[in-house]
Amino acid sequence: MRIALLGSSGMLGSKAAEVFRARGHELLTPSHAEADLNRPHTLEKFFQTRSFEALVNCAGFTRVDACEEPAKFSAAFNVNGTAVGWLAKFCRKSGRILVHYSTDYVYDGQKPEPYVETDVPAPLNAYGRTKWQADRLIQAENPFHYLVRTSWVYGPNGPNFVKTIVGLLKTKSRLEVVSDQVGGPTYTGDLALFTLELLEKKAASGLYHFADAGHTSWYHFAKEIQGQTGLTSCEVVSALSENIFRPAQRPANSRLDLAKAAQAVGHPLRPWEEALKDYLTKDFK
Ligand SMILES: NC(=O)c1ccc[n+]([C@@H]2O[C@H](COP(=O)([O-])OP(=O)(O)OC[C@H]3O[C@@H](n4cnc5c(N)ncnc54)[C@H](OP(=O)(O)O)[C@@H]3O)[C@@H](O)[C@H]2O)c1
Repeated sequence: MRIALLGSSGMLGSKAAEVFRARGHELLTPSHAEADLNRPHTLEKFFQTRSFEALVNCAGFTRVDACEEPAKFSAAFNVNGTAVGWLAKFCRKSGRILVHYSTDYVYDGQKPEPYVETDVPAPLNAYGRTKWQADRLIQAENPFHYLVRTSWVYGPNGPNFVKTIVGLLKTKSRLEVVSDQVGGPTYTGDLALFTLELLEKKAASGLYHFADAGHTSWYHFAKEIQGQTGLTSCEVVSALSENIFRPAQRPANSRLDLAKAAQAVGHPLRPWEEALKDYLTKDFK
C-alpha cells in the first residue's frame, strides 16, 4: 500500500515509518514545511499532486501542559483540531483513508471501569479539548477512517515517561511518582503495528481504543521500569497527584477497553510489561 505519513520526525511517526517500511509498504514522508498543518494550501497541494491510498497523521502539538497557556492553546487548537478537519475533508473528497490518533485525555477519568469507544468525552484539560475537536471533525466529515484513541505512549525519538524515569533513576536517590492515576502504557512499535493491521485487514471504519494490554498506575509503571532496568539505588515512592503540581489536570482513570481493537485484528493484545521489555532491551535510544 502507498501511505503518506505526516509527522515522521516525531516519536510515533518515526516508529511508524520504520514499521511500515519493514512490512513492505511504500511511504511518502513529507516534511513539516511540505505538509504544514498551519497552512491548508500546502495540504491541498500535497493531496492534489501526490499519489497515495491512506494518510496516517502522526503530526500534532503534543505538549500537554503548554496547551494551558492561552497563546499556545490557540496554536494547538489549529494544529490538533481545525487542521485535522481539513485532512478529513481532503480524504473524503479524494477517497483516501485517514488514520488519526486521539488520546485518553478526552475523558474526564470519573468512570470506574475502562472507557469504551461509545463513552462521551469530557476533557479535563486544554490539550484534551484540542484533540476532541479533531475527533468530532473526523466523525462529522466521515471519510473512511481509523481514529485510534491511545494512552501513555513511549518509544524512541521523543521525550516520554520511560526515558524520563530511566534518567531520574540514574541520577536521583529518591523519586516520587503518582499512584492515583491509572492507565495503559503503549509502545509506539505496537501502536504502529496495530495501525498496519487495521489497514491490511481492511477493518471497519471508525474509532478504536488501543494500548498494550493491562493497566497500571504511573507509580507501578515506574517500579516496573526500575525492576526491568535494575536501577535500584533510587528509592521510588508513591505520591498523590494533588501534591505534585502540573498545569494541566490529568484524568484519574485513563483505562481504555481494548476488546474492539483485539477483535478487529483477530488476536489478543500483548501485555504492557512485555512491550516495555522489548523497548528497554532492543529499542531504547
Ligand atoms: N505521546 C503520547 O503520550 C500520546 C498519547 C496519546 C495520543 N498521542 C497522539 O499521537 C500523535 C503522535 O504523538 P507524538 O508523541 O509522536 O508526537 P511528537 O513526537 O510531538 O511529534 C509531533 C510531530 O508533529 C509534527 N508537527 C508539529 N506541528 C506541525 C505542523 N504544523 N505541521 C506539520 N507537522 C507538524 C512535528 O514535526 P516538527 O518536529 O518538524 O515540528 C513532529 O514530527 C499525536 O496526535 C498525539 O496527540 C500521543
